[in-house]
Amino acid sequence: MLNVALPKGRLGEKVYERMARAGYPCPEVLEESRRLTFENPETGVRYFWVKPSDVAIYVERGAADVGIAGKDILLEYSPQVYELLDLGMGKCRMCVAGRADFRDDTSRTLRVATKFPNIARAHYAACGREISIIKLNGSIEIAPLLGLSDVIVDIVETGKTLLENGLAPLTTIVPISARFIANTASYQFHSDEIRTMCERLENAL
Ligand code: PRP
Repeated sequence: MLNVALPKGRLGEKVYERMARAGYPCPEVLEESRRLTFENPETGVRYFWVKPSDVAIYVERGAADVGIAGKDILLEYSPQVYELLDLGMGKCRMCVAGRADFRDDTSRTLRVATKFPNIARAHYAACGREISIIKLNGSIEIAPLLGLSDVIVDIVETGKTLLENGLAPLTTIVPISARFIANTASYQFHSDEIRTMCERLENAL
């Protein structure tokens, strides 16, 4: 049995459909229920629904052999896992955003609100800009509106959330998409199964 961590939510459902097309169906996964684990002994897979930001932890610790995680999470937490495939799904970008008329006053420390402090720090370190991080857990777009921060570092997909809150993307830091990842030990012990899954996922567009 291969244990597969799926990210709960819209992306996870699309990812599951790709898994099903790749030859690993388990129809109960999509049933309305509170269950979090499902298995299909015929194809040798056991699925778990986990919070998207936790997929990499399950895989790194070996609770899941493989999983699908956003590149944002991999960049932020640098888990020790193998990144095997870019699924080309869940595409978005990590951006600096702020009021459209924002001008950086380099004489003072820039206040950056974000859920991704490591990505933000690395970006501004590369620019040589001094910042202070305000770590938030969601609804980041409010921070510049209320004067809590000068800018935000956050994910932009359609740009609708920024627009509806009077903000604009200022700089793209990195493009993001969903990645197929594997636990390093599982990749040694189940290399045939994991490589086959990876190839089939690649071909199941
Ligand atoms: C993400 C991100 C933005 C929004 C961007 O939020 O933090 O708020 O999606 O999408 P858009 O460009 O298509 O509008 P998420 O839904 O994960 O919620 P949260 O960060 O507020 O928890």
